[in-house]
Amino acid sequence: MEVKPDIKSESEAPAVSSAPRSPRIHGRYKGPTGDFCCVPGCTNSRGKCNRMGKQVSFYTFPRDSKRLKMWLDRIRLDVLSEDGHLVPFTPKNHHRVCSEHFVGGKKVDHPNSEAYVPSEFPRNAVRKRTTKRSLEAGLAVQVVTKKQKKATAELAPKGRPPFSVKYRFPLPFLGPVPIVYSAPTDHTYINLPSVMSQGVVMETCTCTAPVNMAVIKYWGKRHKDLVLPLNSSISATLDQKQLRTKTTVAISPSFEDDRLWLNGIEERVDTVRIQNLLAELRQRSIEQQSCPQEWFSWKLHVCSENNFPTAAGLASSAAGYACLAFSLAVLYRLRGDISDIARRGSGSACRSMYGGFVIWDKGTKADGTDSIARQLYPETHWPELHILILVVSDQKKHTCSTAGMEVTVETSSLMKQRIRLVPDRIKEMTSAIEKRDFHKFAELTMKDSNQLHAVCLDSYPPISYMTDVSRQIVHMVHEYNKLKGQNKVAYTFDAGPNACLYLIEEDVAEVVSLVTHFFPPIGPTEEFYTGLPTGSVALDQVIASQINLPKQPGAIKYVIHTKPGPGPCVLTKKVDSLLDISGHPKYDTRGEPKSVTTDQ
Ligand code: DP6
Repeated sequence: MEVKPDIKSESEAPAVSSAPRSPRIHGRYKGPTGDFCCVPGCTNSRGKCNRMGKQVSFYTFPRDSKRLKMWLDRIRLDVLSEDGHLVPFTPKNHHRVCSEHFVGGKKVDHPNSEAYVPSEFPRNAVRKRTTKRSLEAGLAVQVVTKKQKKATAELAPKGRPPFSVKYRFPLPFLGPVPIVYSAPTDHTYINLPSVMSQGVVMETCTCTAPVNMAVIKYWGKRHKDLVLPLNSSISATLDQKQLRTKTTVAISPSFEDDRLWLNGIEERVDTVRIQNLLAELRQRSIEQQSCPQEWFSWKLHVCSENNFPTAAGLASSAAGYACLAFSLAVLYRLRGDISDIARRGSGSACRSMYGGFVIWDKGTKADGTDSIARQLYPETHWPELHILILVVSDQKKHTCSTAGMEVTVETSSLMKQRIRLVPDRIKEMTSAIEKRDFHKFAELTMKDSNQLHAVCLDSYPPISYMTDVSRQIVHMVHEYNKLKGQNKVAYTFDAGPNACLYLIEEDVAEVVSLVTHFFPPIGPTEEFYTGLPTGSVALDQVIASQINLPKQPGAIKYVIHTKPGPGPCVLTKKVDSLLDISGHPKYDTRGEPKSVTTDQ
């Protein structure tokens, strides 16, 4: 593309003279217009923003051709040529994009940042700028004849994409985006057709959300109701092929009550967490005027299921609340980050709003508006990193995380020390992930898990989530790493006895043989290892003999092999819905279809 955009930053751009431009319009003149934003539907100009006291920066288009294409793909500023064809817009030196179209209100030059590309655009943007200047610049849609309309209709991308398309959230920033979609955080582009049942409308949406596994743990709140943490935390989002929650939400004037089904069983919807989450979503939606107001008077049906055992202590609440928040946000056509809304359900849920490696900044504001999750690196950043989840117990934990952290905060003196240490650990962990330094990553992961369980034991009365088997796994990992001369495996434990092992793909087969050696399955091995294929190698007999650990058949129930994966997805196929056309679950508690589903 023959573009030589001006790469001057906002601060380097020449100052606009404050003198009236033309004496002829003196008196009515309101100040210079200066730069204006060329995003369709955006009316920001430097002069207007200055007059209104709005802090807006105006950026030139990037010089780097790859990044430029990404900007153009998202801005979708096609122009109508004289012969009625839509032609791609070619930015000139004077063209600007204002800071309001970037997440966080500021352009960021790091390719892994959300604000690397513009992603926030006006709803229902129309190309309506028809000033003389914009006409010259080729920005306006001129009076279009019927003939021209027909010509453009044939050339423009037709309709929405096929229903089978899965939208990832946030959309990957480094690849081309289909031109019909504009903003990764703008759900208005997703086609969610209304369903009609016996003449009554039902608005519905089905999404999936992932589980995340923290490597720097969240433990302790500074505000209970707002779910604000005492420290920042970092996690990896796990691949939804192995672990995910799927949720269908529906609203209709025909529903009599708010209802919720979890794995086929009806649960209470009037819990504080769910009500807080719903209130926050509705409030945000009202502020953004994102959907018809009457929708809020309609009752809500929610149906959710996990593709892994819910009681197995595998962060199901994180995936569950993330999926609920995400599905409703898409249904209500909310824009922007909603990790703070998911947080109201369960703290760790906010990290499940993004794929790859995610940080939850603890924030400092009293209202919690800066306590949000953001992606550090996408799942493609470290493809060799794999995860083995060793399920030791699938029983529900005796002290839930919420109650456990409360006791710790109130009684543990060690906890004060932890809160002082975590900020440095966050920095070190971010750097280890950035450099893909597994040895350091493993050390920090294990130390942080150990510290979490140490503060639990330091609580009064003490809380112990790990069992003898958990401790034997810890011993096995340390002995193995010692024999290998470096950290080959890292363990981490949440509020339960199940171990999550991080390791590099090429070591999976040997670690699997190590686990099988000390914790042999009672049943068939094929059923013991689930998820990604593990491969197999014979365990080095030196390793087996030097690790001092008794064999414990059946102590580990099964293993899930997975890897980091993407954030929540929207499923638009009708068959994916968990609710039938009347808004009731399609499946029973065993996942079998109920007899009457009329929409398939
Ligand atoms: C040990 O998010 O379940 O998994 O905010 O009270 O719902 P609440 O707690 P929750 O806590 C998870 C704690 C942890 C560590 C982590 O995931 O960071």
